[in-house]
Amino acid sequence: MIQNIDYSKIDLTLPPPAKEPDRQYYFIAKCRQQVEAFAREWGRVPKACVVNYGCQMNARDSEKLAGVLESVGYELTEDENADFVIFNTCTVRDNANQRVYGRLGVLNGYKRRNPGMKIALCGCMMQENSVIEKIRESYRFVDLIFGTHNLYKFAELLDSVFGNRGQGMIIDIWKDTDRIVEDLPVERKYPYKSGINIMFGCNNFCSYCIVPYVRGRERSRSPKDILREIEGLVAEGVVEIMLLGQNVNSYGKGLEDPITFAQLLQEIEKIEGLKRIRFMTSHPKDLSDELIAVMRDSKKICRHLHLPLQSGSTRILQAMNRRYTKEQYLKLVEKIRREIPDIAITTDIIVGFPGETMEDVEETIDVIRKVKYDNAFTFIYSRRTGTPAAAMEQVPEEQVKAGFDRVLKAVQDTAREQAAKYQGCVMEALVEEINEHDPSLLTGRLSNNTLVHFPGDPSLIGSLVQVCLEECRGFYYLGHMV
Ligand code: SAH
Ligand code: SF4
Ligand code: F3S
Repeated sequence: MIQNIDYSKIDLTLPPPAKEPDRQYYFIAKCRQQVEAFAREWGRVPKACVVNYGCQMNARDSEKLAGVLESVGYELTEDENADFVIFNTCTVRDNANQRVYGRLGVLNGYKRRNPGMKIALCGCMMQENSVIEKIRESYRFVDLIFGTHNLYKFAELLDSVFGNRGQGMIIDIWKDTDRIVEDLPVERKYPYKSGINIMFGCNNFCSYCIVPYVRGRERSRSPKDILREIEGLVAEGVVEIMLLGQNVNSYGKGLEDPITFAQLLQEIEKIEGLKRIRFMTSHPKDLSDELIAVMRDSKKICRHLHLPLQSGSTRILQAMNRRYTKEQYLKLVEKIRREIPDIAITTDIIVGFPGETMEDVEETIDVIRKVKYDNAFTFIYSRRTGTPAAAMEQVPEEQVKAGFDRVLKAVQDTAREQAAKYQGCVMEALVEEINEHDPSLLTGRLSNNTLVHFPGDPSLIGSLVQVCLEECRGFYYLGHMV
């Protein structure tokens, strides 16, 4: 979906305006002429591909990139053998970086066969100096690099790529920004659900994590802008939204009129036509009683909380700078379950943080068994340059692997147990898509985030239906509509 702007009315004989987002609209209008010229020259519509790595916030940024590319006249494709390819990168763990380098090699092959092809890189990985140096040296076929702080000026950067007459790679990286530009075009992946940034950056500096360095300081969007965006999405048919931030529980702190995350949720709840509200991520140290009460009393907030544990060992949590203990975390979960008994709790766990012993791993497993997570993402610790943990003594690989296997097994056991809990119940599901493997089935998502597959007509996609959860198959259900 694209903002209602008539780009043909923008007068390109004038210099570009200084004010945003008008400046970007000007460059979109200018790029449209160039893409039209390509289309005439090549005798076909030029194609663009946006590849997303990383978290939901990056995915939302990718929708903005896609929005600009579509506005300037590209046809979007998932095929990386396209005329314009952009990788929106992630650097939270080293394997994310390695994937990007691997794919870049493939793109180079495509570009040799299609010299008109343009290749761009953006996102978190590009905020690291060592990455830029490596690309400059070994991946010279890349046309454009920018970072996380100036994504809003993608149209302007695109225009400089089109105007580039052999000056080489264009690189524009900012260290940080306090700027938030609203109202840029965005192309959504799903018609009925959407992610929405409510804040950017992170101030927590967990000692293993690179995100605060590559995403900058925490800043919240104004409630007015958030509500306006959601109202616009609902008018376009969106029924479920996911509020996004590295730590949504600290939303609102730096605003002129401070407001809490719980208060923001109450305002969003009032939007007519909006059916479901989700959010991520919640840092346990900032999860308030006010938020628990608002969730409990809400008709729209989904029965799912992602509450990253990272480790169950208080000693390791302290070294991680998480600012809660094992006991505080367990108490918090107890309180949440008491107030909202049908809530699903999921988590993130890191195994192999510097100094971790097998006893620490047992503490993590103890928390897994006590909380009974509905699902958990388990990661092997990855050393990130520049973070405090990178300088600490690393755990031997064999020990990490043994610990990881134990944690994974514990997580799978509780998740399986939790998933079977609702067998035979009737619950509401948002119909998301036609089942990938069996096109006679639809796939729906329950409020607690569990998937259910059931026979039904594809015209139901995007609507809420009542489904009987007949049979639990590991982590999902088979059912039928009632
Ligand atoms: N802001 C979110 C997390 C964003 S990163 C939060 O605090 O919950 C997503 C997950 O990646 C983290 O929860 C953590 O489990 C994992 N992660 C972050 N840095 C990592 C590292 N260096 N090695 C392994 N996993 C890491
Ligand atoms: Fe990283 Fe911690 Fe911030 Fe999450 S809260 S993004 S883990 S520093
Ligand atoms: Fe990755 Fe950046 Fe998200 S490092 S996890 S894409 S904030």
